[in-house]
Amino acid sequence: MKGVGKFGEVLAAEKGKVSYDELAVRLEKIIRSGSRRKAIMEFVCRELRKVPHYSWVGIYAVEGTDLVLEAWSGPSATQHTRIPSGEGICGAAVEEKSTIVVPDVSKDPRYLPCFLNTQSEIVVPVMKDGSAVAEIDIDSERLDAFSPTDRAFLESVSEELASIV
Ligand code: SME
Repeated sequence: MKGVGKFGEVLAAEKGKVSYDELAVRLEKIIRSGSRRKAIMEFVCRELRKVPHYSWVGIYAVEGTDLVLEAWSGPSATQHTRIPSGEGICGAAVEEKSTIVVPDVSKDPRYLPCFLNTQSEIVVPVMKDGSAVAEIDIDSERLDAFSPTDRAFLESVSEELASIV
């Protein structure tokens, strides 16, 4: 099945290779496994971080008007465990109901600083019945790290997540 998947790309990683298609299959299995929501969210964050340029991965849930951090994987914790509506790239993605890719966070006035080394960020909302109910937030230590493949891949993960949020 190698190379014939939806995303096609395989990246060199510290330990071997990472294929977006293999990752998508693993994520789909766990999301559909019927496990506890929290356990699934944590697994998804850990798995996504196997992509070499995904430095920090978090999933926020929309609770009332706030975004609340539900699971994360990365070298350190964020102080932004609750983000009020409309704040940051995270808040903007909920309002716009659409993925936001920020190639250079230092040039985006909406950016809420979190980690010193972050250079770019992608936020992908999880949509249900026309509203954003959660989102995947990924920071990268690389400038302009997120390609159209990253966006398509993460949007497909977010569609899967919609079935459990
Ligand atoms: N940078 C985000 C805040 C969350 S942290 O990156 C984990 C933002 O601008 O919304």
